[in-house]
Amino acid sequence: MTQPNRGDVIIALDFPSAAEVYAFLDRFTQEKPYVKIGMELYYAEGPQIVRQIKARGHKIFLDLKLHDIPNTVKRAMKVLSALDVDMVNLHAAGTVDMMKAALEGLTRADGTRPMLIAVTQLTSTSEERMQRELLISAGMEQTVAHYAQNAKLAGLDGVVCSPLEAAAVKAACGSDFQTVTPGIRFADAAADDQARVMTPEKARNGGSDYIVVGRPITAASDPVAAYRRCVQEFLG
Ligand code: C5P
Repeated sequence: MTQPNRGDVIIALDFPSAAEVYAFLDRFTQEKPYVKIGMELYYAEGPQIVRQIKARGHKIFLDLKLHDIPNTVKRAMKVLSALDVDMVNLHAAGTVDMMKAALEGLTRADGTRPMLIAVTQLTSTSEERMQRELLISAGMEQTVAHYAQNAKLAGLDGVVCSPLEAAAVKAACGSDFQTVTPGIRFADAAADDQARVMTPEKARNGGSDYIVVGRPITAASDPVAAYRRCVQEFLG
């Protein structure tokens, strides 16, 4: 299995077009950051954008959050695996059977596969809404830890979660189970629309293996300096 290094800063490429992505990536002349391609960019530009960014030498987390019946997810994962990405994800709510099917689809003929992680509960979902709209009566931390345990049972590598839940996930699933956490902000910056945020350093100390950082880098006046600051604070 292709295992990315632990402790990476992943830049969320939340741009609407390839032209804007390349203008952004062209600023990085010294380093090749690990990047995240989400729905907006993927749906706008298609699989070609993945191949092109990969050809530039970046590791890629393809953040498409699959959630469908097991057979459909398995077949879709097979297609994504052929794109040679380093990390993909799905919703743990799709059940253990769906997650197992996804792993099967992802695994290439030579036994290698991208890292597979599960979304537990979206960080935009409050505990109150989860209980009232989704009829999940347990608390948020217990629900996230339980979904993480399901992901581990299915053989997945880790979960996407809030940095505030990373410690609970590690306690439930062990320190080798990977945590990928968005919601990162520098101590002196605005939170934007993220409700629960942490600095890179606190995220690291709290058990985040990878941090996903968007606007603090992409909207900075000097994105390369912001990326370096993030790496410095996260890796110490
Ligand atoms: O700009 P910002 O740092 O808030 O970007 C965070 C990135 O992480 C965005 O691409 C967002 O879609 C993603 N994300 C998130 N919360 C989740 C899952 C993904 O913020 N639960």
